[in-house]
This record gives sequence, C-alpha cells and structure tokens, in this order.
Amino acid sequence: MSQLPRRVAIVTGAAQGIGFGIAKKLITNGIDVALIDYDQTKLSAAVDQLKGFGSKVIGVSGNVCKIDEVQSAIEQVIAWGGQIDYLVNNAGIIRDKRLLNMTEADWDDVINVNLKSQFLFCQATIKEMLPRNFGRIVNISSRAWLGGFGQSNYSAAKGGVISLTRSLAIEFAAKGITVNAIAPGIIQTPLFDSFDASLQSKLKESVPVKRIGTPDDVAYAVMTFLNPDASYLTGQVLYVCGGRSLSSPSV
Ligand SMILES: NC(=O)c1ccc[n+]([C@@H]2O[C@H](COP(=O)([O-])OP(=O)(O)OC[C@H]3O[C@@H](n4cnc5c(N)ncnc54)[C@H](O)[C@@H]3O)[C@@H](O)[C@H]2O)c1
Repeated sequence: MSQLPRRVAIVTGAAQGIGFGIAKKLITNGIDVALIDYDQTKLSAAVDQLKGFGSKVIGVSGNVCKIDEVQSAIEQVIAWGGQIDYLVNNAGIIRDKRLLNMTEADWDDVINVNLKSQFLFCQATIKEMLPRNFGRIVNISSRAWLGGFGQSNYSAAKGGVISLTRSLAIEFAAKGITVNAIAPGIIQTPLFDSFDASLQSKLKESVPVKRIGTPDDVAYAVMTFLNPDASYLTGQVLYVCGGRSLSSPSV
C-alpha cells in the first residue's frame, strides 16, 4: 500500500481555544503541526497535551503581528519540518468598546492581531509553498464581520480578513494554493466561559441550533478546506455558527 504524503501545518494562536482544537484535529489526522503563540506557558502546556498522537508537534513562541518574529517562526518551522503545506491563521483578540470610548490602541491592536498577522503569515508561508505548487490556507474570520454592537474594530478586522482571503485566492489560484475563510459564531472558549450565566444562556438561545459551538465544530470545517482534493474550492467563506448568520441576533 502506498503511503500518504507527509504534511506539515502551522496554526497561529494555538495555545488554547479554537486554535488548540484545530491543532488537535490536525494531529489526530496524521499531520505534523507547529503551534505558534506568544503565551509561552500555555504554549508549552498545549504542546505537552498533543504529544503521543503519532504526528510531530512543536511550539514556536512569537508575536504574530511582528514581521521579524513571524519570519523567525517560519524559519524554525522549516528547520523542524522541512516544508509548509497548511496554514491556519487563527490568532485573534477582541477589545469591544462603543466608538466614542475606543482608543487608538484599541483599534490598532485589534487590526494588527486579527488582520495584519494574516497578511504577514500568508506572505511568509506562500513563499515556501510556491516552489511546490501546493498549499492550503484557512483564515479565521468571524460572523461578527457582518457587524456587531461595540465591535467596530473587530468587525472591520474580520471583514478585512475576508477581503484578504478573496484577493489572495485570486492571486494564487493558478499556483495550486487555495485560500479560504471560516466565520465562526459563538464558540465555547475561555472567553465564553468568563461571561455570567445569564449572558451565556441568552447567547445560547440566540443560536438557531440551540447550542454553543465547540472548537471541534470549527476544526471540522478547517479540515474540509485543507483536504488536498479540495483544489477547486477557493476564496470562499464558510460560516460555522449554528445558523446564527441567517438571522439578526439581539445579543
Ligand atoms: N470564541 C468565539 O466565540 C469566536 C467566534 C468567532 C471568531 N473567533 C475567532 O477565532 C479565533 C480564536 O479565538 P478563541 O476564542 O479561541 O481565542 P482565545 O483568546 O481563546 O485564543 C487566542 C489565542 O491567540 C493567542 N494570541 C493572541 N494574540 C497573539 C499575538 N499577538 N501573537 C501570538 N499569539 C497571540 C493567545 O495567546 C491565545 O492562545 C480568533 O481569531 C477569534 O477572533 C472566535
């Protein structure tokens, strides 16, 4: 029986939450994974949890908004894994505030982590993918790109992710590299757990399927885009939100 080719993936913001769930799904599917995060303590703990599944795993510490740290991370991944087949741009933050209270730093930080980081990682990674005529990139956006109260910075960043995705999909369509986006709705992560019980219950009620999503729900969608057979699937946005994008939630 012929062996499946070895594949190497990068997942940013993978020390916890959705990124960790995606990394775990990739590893359990036989893909070697480099987890990138700036929280070294959580990153080490995440890497420890992912050892022993058969695939190789490495944690690379770095700030995804800094070009020199991104470049250094890519060099470390190449030295470790020899190639990059998959990139999942997942790192993100929120700094929700009404417009009149929003500071320049609230704007810049959210745009830098959610959007600029994806430009930096796409540029550095595609350079490695081009000679092999193969690559799969998934950019994590959010259902909030449609607009969210007190989220002008986050919504603009996540809308930018979709425009970046569509433009790069066109630019690299003929080079074997696909670029797609996922727009998650409400997903159970440490952030959701920090909300009080009444807000959690209101949010749950606002989801048509009447449950909160899991990192595994997002990881399932990521796997669809990463499939080497999905070569005709590019520039698309897939909502993973239990139908919440179909209505106008009040919370
Ligand atoms: N949780 C949700 O309900 C939800 C919904 C829609 C979209 N999203 C998106 O999914 C992605 C993951 O969200 P999450 O809820 O798992 O978040 P999280 O806060 O649980 O995890 C984010 C990870 O990114 C890392 N990170 C943040 N800034 C970084 C930086 N500058 N450099 C390196 N690492 C950095 C953090 O250390 C953390 O490990 C984000 O892009 C988020 O916007 C989340």
